[in-house]
Amino acid sequence: MSAINYAEKIPNNVDIGGDRTLQRALEHWQPHFLQWWQEMGPSDFKSADVYLRTAISVDAQGWAHYGATKMPDYRWGIFLADAVPERKIGFGDAMGQPVWQQVPGEYRSTLRRLIVTQGDTEPASVEQQRLLGHTCPSMYDLRNLFQINVEEGRHLWAMVYLLHAYFGRDGREEAEELLARHSGDADKPRILTTFNEPMSDWLSLFCFTYFTDRDGKYQLKSFAESAFDPLSRTCRFMLTEEAHHMFVGETGISRVVKRTLEVMKEIGGDDPARVRAKGAIDLQTLQKYLNFWCSSSLDLFGSEISSNSAAAFASGMKGRPDETQYQDHVLRSSVFEMTLPDGKKEQVPMLNALNEVMRESYLKDCEIGLKRWNRMIERAGHAFRLTLPSSRFRRSIGPWAGVPVDPQGNLIEKSIYEKRLSEWIPSASDKAFVQSLMQRVIEPGKMAGWIAPPERGINNLPVEYEYVHLH
Ligand SMILES: [Fe+2]
Ligand SMILES: [Fe+2]
Repeated sequence: MSAINYAEKIPNNVDIGGDRTLQRALEHWQPHFLQWWQEMGPSDFKSADVYLRTAISVDAQGWAHYGATKMPDYRWGIFLADAVPERKIGFGDAMGQPVWQQVPGEYRSTLRRLIVTQGDTEPASVEQQRLLGHTCPSMYDLRNLFQINVEEGRHLWAMVYLLHAYFGRDGREEAEELLARHSGDADKPRILTTFNEPMSDWLSLFCFTYFTDRDGKYQLKSFAESAFDPLSRTCRFMLTEEAHHMFVGETGISRVVKRTLEVMKEIGGDDPARVRAKGAIDLQTLQKYLNFWCSSSLDLFGSEISSNSAAAFASGMKGRPDETQYQDHVLRSSVFEMTLPDGKKEQVPMLNALNEVMRESYLKDCEIGLKRWNRMIERAGHAFRLTLPSSRFRRSIGPWAGVPVDPQGNLIEKSIYEKRLSEWIPSASDKAFVQSLMQRVIEPGKMAGWIAPPERGINNLPVEYEYVHLH
């Protein structure tokens, strides 16, 4: 059932060979994708053998094969988690009815927009990260970057498959557009702001994979609940791959903290200037990077009050992450209390507050890493604590958009906000300092001076394994 056919041009477990029209359309898109990878994917390293995992089944046990692969030869394919027999819609007004194997006409344009928006983030992140290979802090990290890149490429395939298979000509046009928009492009940018932010250093990469890939996890989890069964199955399998991306973020930041604490011990103090002079990243600078990427990622959940999210839920298109954890799956009679910038509390129908519900549970998930990092700092005997910014800080969407708020969530004077912003998010000189640390280290097992080695290697291999063979 879940076996993947590798003999075909496009590996898949959805029998695209059984639908000649679909197969032809996807085989027509494939060279466009490969051309995009050549032009917009990782700069250089095309002939490097990279120790990559490739999906070979959708079973929870042993779904991946590991081996040396040149990235342009990666077997990008279409893999859907196995169908759940007799699956019923788990929320919304149609709860209990059979799930949809085709797109209902009345939801067609909304579903297409949701899939395109998700699909757009996947190649966008590859574009954002394309230059990072040149400044990797170790060969282990270089391999992880490329693993994430090829999997984001596969996530694009996952969404393009749905567009081709279920949305006809409109879907095929959208699939082309997904390769035509580019991160940061002045004329044709990616759809969401966070995916147009430049990424020129590895601290940003670790923050991005911690915060922004975690937004991805929440989006995928809410689509995994969808009444549109092919979308649900696609996203369930994508989540398996996504976990590694967040692992790279969480362990990356842990290793930065570990190295900084070592340096603080060496110098016998916590003076940021002295930490920097020793070539490590002071905790204050790390805090600014956390503030930037967390607040940017919070906007991805959309406005606090949203009729779109209400409609997507009520219709069954998009649920809440882990929908079964809730008691009420219809939400026609519950309300959510929201505090607005003028201090007034407003009772909002719960259906219209789902973006905010999701944002709150996302922030709880983000706390887990912070607790771990703070324990490390505490054990080293320092009083400094890393924190998450308030969900009101630096927002561009919703009632808090443009409202001057400090990272603790207090309303402040606009002039003070503008003056102090460079204390809260990376300033030009912070970025220049972090950039100065970005020197490529590629001797197997060696690490750049600003980051500690990982606790273990990939797939039980030693840390000093040659994960990327450069020719
Ligand atoms: Fe992804
Ligand atoms: Fe990801």
